[in-house]
Amino acid sequence: MTLLESAPRTAQTSAPVLDVLAERWSPRAFDPDAVLEAGALAGVFEAARWAPSASNTQPWRFIIARRGTETFETIAATLMGFNQMWAGSAAALVVNIAVTADAEGNPMPWAQYDLGQAVAHLSVQAHAEGLHVHQMGGFDRAAISAAFDLAETFVPTSVMTIGKLGDAAALPEALREREVAPRVRLALDEIVLLNN
Ligand SMILES: Cc1cc2nc3c(=O)[nH]c(=O)nc-3n(C[C@H](O)[C@H](O)[C@H](O)COP(=O)(O)O)c2cc1C
Repeated sequence: MTLLESAPRTAQTSAPVLDVLAERWSPRAFDPDAVLEAGALAGVFEAARWAPSASNTQPWRFIIARRGTETFETIAATLMGFNQMWAGSAAALVVNIAVTADAEGNPMPWAQYDLGQAVAHLSVQAHAEGLHVHQMGGFDRAAISAAFDLAETFVPTSVMTIGKLGDAAALPEALREREVAPRVRLALDEIVLLNN
């Protein structure tokens, strides 16, 4: 039995959900040889494009960088040390940007909420297409803004890996343990405060 077989990644749900939702998870072991051909991410970002947003403002922007490019190295260098240990194997790194004000300077208070929703849709689409996504909050926002000359209202909110699943055995020990640890969540009655 391999390590991964010993700890199934599929969520043990307390009510039936769509297979793709139960099966989506965030690995740290990515296949370092997998390459995303041109167009391979079209469906994934199309899913983000069609996410709902406040007043249909669509306040999400993305910087996509495939492994092997200078842009990929620029993004990778901004990751926290822990994330640098694993994220460089992924086929792509993406900066997820929330646009926090419109062209007239009016604040868009739901921007980060909407961006998160777009990334959620994207991650589910990616899983359905045999890809994996792992979002990260651990990166240097100021460094990203400077590297890509982002306006103040273009807020780098997360970075994510997209790629093919790799071999957990190839991870350093501390990461391997996390990779195969059971996936857990709060109970439904803890997150639903009232259900009248
Ligand atoms: C906004 C956000 C920030 C995260 N930051 C990190 C991070 O910096 N490093 C990391 O390894 N995982 C990070 N994660 C991944 C979460 O730890 C992971 O989604 C969570 O443990 C649930 O696991 P699952 O996605 O496999 O269900 C982040 C996830 C989100 C949504």
